[in-house]
Amino acid sequence: MIFETVTTTGGCRSYVIGCEATCAAALVDPELGQIDRYIALAARDGLRIRYLIDTHTHADHFSATQELARQLGVPVVMHTSSPAPFVDLRLRGGELLVIGKLRVQALHTPGHTRDSMCLCVEDRVFTGDTLLIGGTGRTDLPSGDAGALYESLFEGVLRLDPALKVFPAHEYKGRSHSTIGQELAENPRLQKSDRGAFIEIMHSLNLTMPTHVTEALRTNMTGGKTVAQMLSEASAGVPFMSLGELNARIESRSDDLIVLDVRERDAFEQGHISGALLLPRGQLELRVNEELTDPTRRILVYCEFGRVSTRWASTAPLR
Ligand SMILES: [Fe+2]
Repeated sequence: MIFETVTTTGGCRSYVIGCEATCAAALVDPELGQIDRYIALAARDGLRIRYLIDTHTHADHFSATQELARQLGVPVVMHTSSPAPFVDLRLRGGELLVIGKLRVQALHTPGHTRDSMCLCVEDRVFTGDTLLIGGTGRTDLPSGDAGALYESLFEGVLRLDPALKVFPAHEYKGRSHSTIGQELAENPRLQKSDRGAFIEIMHSLNLTMPTHVTEALRTNMTGGKTVAQMLSEASAGVPFMSLGELNARIESRSDDLIVLDVRERDAFEQGHISGALLLPRGQLELRVNEELTDPTRRILVYCEFGRVSTRWASTAPLR
């Protein structure tokens, strides 16, 4: 088996698994920020990516499955209970995915999320956020359930061959993997096999929310774009102007530019670029035809941080 681990600074792990005989491959838990790396790794090893698998709906990072599916024309694979509408292939527990000569078996392991699954292939198991090295996934995010995680672990994953190598979706201490046997022996959360005690541990963790949790859930569950994606698409389609250039044009009193302030009125009144026209973002479509009557004039849009103005500069009424 060809195998690569891709680690990101936040501790997220994704994996490339490939069949040596046929060069077919799959990505497990790919992240949006690592797309170029996956493509490069696959090209380096002569692999053709056939499947994009998410072990569950991620709340702490943006999944790359949908974007890669669009680029590569291959299916997104998740458990059948995933809420994401763009999933092409929905697995149930016990079902197999065929990747060349590799057989990847899905285990349904709800608890961290309702749609969590672990994937067994050859000598290893990809445990997603169900089982981590020396820990488990949290159960306090949407669709998490500590009791379900107990059952998934003690009646499922932990009954697998103790020699199986464990590759989780998160690892914060740089360890490459562990084994089921090692987790049974050393994982502090698994030392009491009493259901009630396990649930109590999970309920008393008091963890802080991951950054971007709502945005990650929204995009991963619906297939919508991240804010960064929207801004990068918008900025790719509009030219920018430096403040120095703008100053020079204002000073030369050249009349070829309309300067449009898209902030709210109170911000405008506290201070604005000389000669700017106020057209707050929420009123653009309503007032564009009355306020910007000459379609041949070049419009320069600005706001406080450059995000709102970039988005609006790329929208149809101003182009
Ligand atoms: Fe997770």
